[in-house]
Amino acid sequence: MSEINNQNNKESLERVAANGLINRRHLLGLGLAGAGGLISHSVLAADSSRVEIPAWSKMPGRDPSGYGSPSSFVGSYQRLAGAPNAVLPGSGVSRTPLHLLQGNITPNSLHFERHHSGIPAIDPAQHRLVIHGMVRQPLEFSYEDLLAYPMQSRIYFLECSGNSGANTSATAGDSSAAAIHGLLSCSEWTGVSLATLLDEAGIAEGATWVTSTGADGASMGRSIPLNKALRDVFIALYQNGEPIRPEQGYPMRLFVPGWEGNVSVKWLTQIKLADSPANFRDETSKYTDLLPDGKALQFTFPMGVKSLITSPSGQMSLRRQGLHEVSGVAWSGSGAISRVEVSADGGRSWADAHLDGTGQDLALTRFRIPWIWEGGPAVLQSRATDSAGQVQPTRAMVLANYDATNRYHFNGIQSWSVSAQGEVKNVYA
Ligand code: CO
Repeated sequence: MSEINNQNNKESLERVAANGLINRRHLLGLGLAGAGGLISHSVLAADSSRVEIPAWSKMPGRDPSGYGSPSSFVGSYQRLAGAPNAVLPGSGVSRTPLHLLQGNITPNSLHFERHHSGIPAIDPAQHRLVIHGMVRQPLEFSYEDLLAYPMQSRIYFLECSGNSGANTSATAGDSSAAAIHGLLSCSEWTGVSLATLLDEAGIAEGATWVTSTGADGASMGRSIPLNKALRDVFIALYQNGEPIRPEQGYPMRLFVPGWEGNVSVKWLTQIKLADSPANFRDETSKYTDLLPDGKALQFTFPMGVKSLITSPSGQMSLRRQGLHEVSGVAWSGSGAISRVEVSADGGRSWADAHLDGTGQDLALTRFRIPWIWEGGPAVLQSRATDSAGQVQPTRAMVLANYDATNRYHFNGIQSWSVSAQGEVKNVYA
């Protein structure tokens, strides 16, 4: 049991914003011995020389295995998957359990999924990628062909355009971080630059758009401008070191860094250069943003600057008073994360969080700040700023830009209330 039982230590901590936020560097500088009583652990008697030897230290453990799995003691680390869709078979999502994870990389087994007609079982020996349309020489690649090309590895987040759309509804749902924001993940992706392949095919005069089609039952298609395609788009073949999973597009997917996830077409089989977008189903009837005047925005690609406290977060309970690390992730489709501020009083006062990311563009950045919860009510918020100077807007600011039915591109500040009993809930503040 930990209580704030040492008034001197408590007073020596540097308060950086109201309601318990403290200076992380100062805290670490004190040494946690200097913050005694704020963290829960056992202290042994000074003359204690006997250490119990547990049973597993007295015998050999199990043998090595071919492919690893988590400890059986870890408990349930699962994606949050919806029920099968009876009307549109194979259409659905599973969400990353962001509140259970730490750091900046999402394990492959927990990367979010969004499918429009299920996951095709593709034999890479039978799969082909064709590049055609406004090119000098149409080309066809097998999986083996692509494996021979020079590759690049980059850490990028991927976020569905509809992520966090739940927080556009009129009342705040009592939901977890995963349920609201779990269509977000971050991996190291490895593959072949699209510019390399387009250069080989030869871009014809007048080509301005690249349209891509997947080999799934939905024939998912999206269009992106040629200048983006030549800047940083690539054909992803590996994710966190292993071949991309079927649910991520095996044997190959387009990867369009920083842009809404839907344009990173999975099971990629056709790339066609054109002088206009294709106006596929998923860029006309869907993935357009309805405005208050009844018009809609089309081809809104970059994901906005955004952050989210994952711990503590919705449906969790604080079980003890004292020191907690408030931690979360921040990201932007327009660059790197340069700053994350945290508030414990619903946005009245803010303190800078410590950034623990790669500093890279278009990747998740973990942030952390120590917080002393003294048992009173609190509203925790985070607010990100990116290298382009964009600051994450409030929920009300985002909603004002769209029709009430729009669910895409919601990047408003998340508010988690903490009750006097320690219950954490999604609220609109
Ligand atoms: Co969009």
